[in-house]
Amino acid sequence: MSTIASDKFDQWIRTDFRTLNTALEEIYFVQEDRAAVEGVGSGLKADLVAEGEAHVEALLAEGDTHQPFETAFNTLGNLGLFMAALRRHELTNPDKETESPFKRCSALCLRIASSLGVAPRFVSPHLSANNYAINGVQKAFTHLPDETIFNDYNLYSILYFKRAAEALMHIPALGVSASATAMMLKEAKYALDQVAHYNKILFDKLDVTRFFYSVRPYFKSHRVGKIVYRGANAGDFAGINQIDLLLGLCRGDDLFYGNILAEKMQYMRPEDQRDVQRTLRIPPLMDGFVEAAERHADTDWFQENCKLFLDVCTAHGRTAAQHQNMLVEKYIKKPAVTMETKHLKQVTASGPPLGELLNTLTHLRDLRIAAPRDDIQTAYNQINQLKAALAVHEI
Ligand code: HEM
Repeated sequence: MSTIASDKFDQWIRTDFRTLNTALEEIYFVQEDRAAVEGVGSGLKADLVAEGEAHVEALLAEGDTHQPFETAFNTLGNLGLFMAALRRHELTNPDKETESPFKRCSALCLRIASSLGVAPRFVSPHLSANNYAINGVQKAFTHLPDETIFNDYNLYSILYFKRAAEALMHIPALGVSASATAMMLKEAKYALDQVAHYNKILFDKLDVTRFFYSVRPYFKSHRVGKIVYRGANAGDFAGINQIDLLLGLCRGDDLFYGNILAEKMQYMRPEDQRDVQRTLRIPPLMDGFVEAAERHADTDWFQENCKLFLDVCTAHGRTAAQHQNMLVEKYIKKPAVTMETKHLKQVTASGPPLGELLNTLTHLRDLRIAAPRDDIQTAYNQINQLKAALAVHEI
């Protein structure tokens, strides 16, 4: 049940919007300095602004405030894609302004977002798990094949993270000793292995230069009204955090991880926000297994389920190591070295300088792989305790 204006806007986002962005990308890409965007392609940029703003005016004039959640969320995503493109083409830049020059669009984003309980911009579900395909084609900024590769493989990984989280969420009600817990741990392991599989294909297929210069720039921070909102990243869904917390590799009362969750809340859909909240009230499986190791280490159920639990932890850690050591290293860190210093500040989606961002991602990886670190608390000792409980039995 959508409105005439929102349908027309959606149609524009799927067609002319993509074509205009693609044409601009092709101009930037053949320049000696591919990151020099300001003042380039002015005619196309003027068309983008005029056409997009006409849709914003039509939506405002229609003033429909009674849309179902999915319709409103879709329109917010479309407005967000438009604003992210304006940011990408340097028609707005949060570092040079105190307020977005696109006031009417900002106002509409803020109204819809406040009514839905999410950030007033496009978030990753708009391009992944809630990106409705029409005639086999999902939404994207451009027609560039590398953007399709990026969106597709992000989505495949996200869907399998969600599947792993769903399997693990059955376990607290069953307890660590149930035979069905073994089934759910196997299911989670399978799903995480699929994440690793799709991460590897993404790593092999995606062109570094195209991604860095023509895809990644749409994921920058921008202002909506006065406030700067960070760019979307593939992580804005609950599943990955549910896995972190349920396994006990990350803890809700760890200040570092607590900050990550608090910051991320508004970038997730409301049901994902509730899933994270629900998971924060569940004791980690790690604690259940550590407790069981003291009393039941020699039972068959412990030996089977604990081994499977450790396999799931390893599989989750492997996806985190891939993200950092393969994807971030190849597609962000290395190309940033060759970029002219004047453009470097704009590299990250979330806004902080690259070094700071990499430290945060390294910290997260080390929590997920339970690395031995003196400076931060990881699950290294508990994992070793469980391994020892299995090893004793083997002797
Ligand atoms: C070319 C591929 C990818 C690159 C270069 C990349 C890069 C990044 C970067 C730089 C961030 C930090 C956010 C920021 O920029 O401010 C981030 C966050 C994140 N990305 Fe990716 N990413 C890629 C693919 C994926 C895929 C396939 C997934 C799987 C779902 C994923 C999951 C996440 C998650 C969960 C976060 C939030 C932080 C965390 O909890 O680890 N990313 N990514």
